Amino acid sequence: MKPIGIFDSGIGGLTVAKAIAIRLPHVPLIYFGDTAHLPYGERSPELIRHYASRISHHLRDQGCRIMVVACNSVSSNALHAVQDALGPKIPAIDVIAPVIQEVIKRFPGGRIGVIGTRATIESGRYQEALNGHGCEVTAMATPLLASAIEEGFHEGSVSDALLEAYLGKGTFDEVDALILGCTHYPLIASQIRAFLPDHVAVIDSSIVVANSVAEAMS
Ligand code: DGL
Repeated sequence: MKPIGIFDSGIGGLTVAKAIAIRLPHVPLIYFGDTAHLPYGERSPELIRHYASRISHHLRDQGCRIMVVACNSVSSNALHAVQDALGPKIPAIDVIAPVIQEVIKRFPGGRIGVIGTRATIESGRYQEALNGHGCEVTAMATPLLASAIEEGFHEGSVSDALLEAYLGKGTFDEVDALILGCTHYPLIASQIRAFLPDHVAVIDSSIVVANSVAEAMS
C-alpha cells in the first residue's frame, strides 16, 4: 500500500501524524521533520516555498499517494509550491482549510482567536477566510512558542512563562474559540487552556485534518 507523506519543520506535525495513525491504522506513513531549517515561522515566504517544494519532491519520489502539509506556516505561504511539486495526481491536504470549515460550522459569525507563527499570522490566511465567513477575528503571532516546544520546553516553566507573556493580558478572554494555528501548540494545549476562561473552546487541527485525509482517500 502506498504511504501517506506528512511533513513539518520539526516535531509539531507529529500531532497530526498521530491522529492520522489512529484514524487510518493500516496505512503506512512517512514523516519528514525539517529540523535543519526550523523555525519556519521566522523564514520568508520565498524560503518556506523553497523548503516545502524540495520536501514535496522528495516525498513524491518515495511513492506517497497523498501529502499532508502538517505545518501552518507552509499551509499559509506555500501550498501552491507543494501542489506544483507533487503534480496533479497526488493531492495535498493542508492544516488550515479543514479547520476553517469546522470553525464556521461550529461558530457561525463567531468571535474567533488565532495564535500561530509570525509567517502564518502575517500571511493573513486565517483572518481573510474567517472574515469572509462573517467571523470577527483576533490574531496574534506567538513566535517563541514553536522553538521552545521543539527544544523540549513544553508542559513546564519555560512554556508557562512564554504563555504568560503572550496570553496573560487577556487578549482572548472574549472569543468563542481559539485556534491553535501551529501544529506544535497541541503539545502545550493543557497549558494554553489554563490561560483561557472556560467558555473559550480550544481548536486543535489534528483530528479535523485526519478526517479530511480519510475522506480524500475514500
Ligand atoms: N509547526 C509549524 C506550524 O504549524 C511551524 C513551526 C516553526 O517551525 O516555526 O506553523
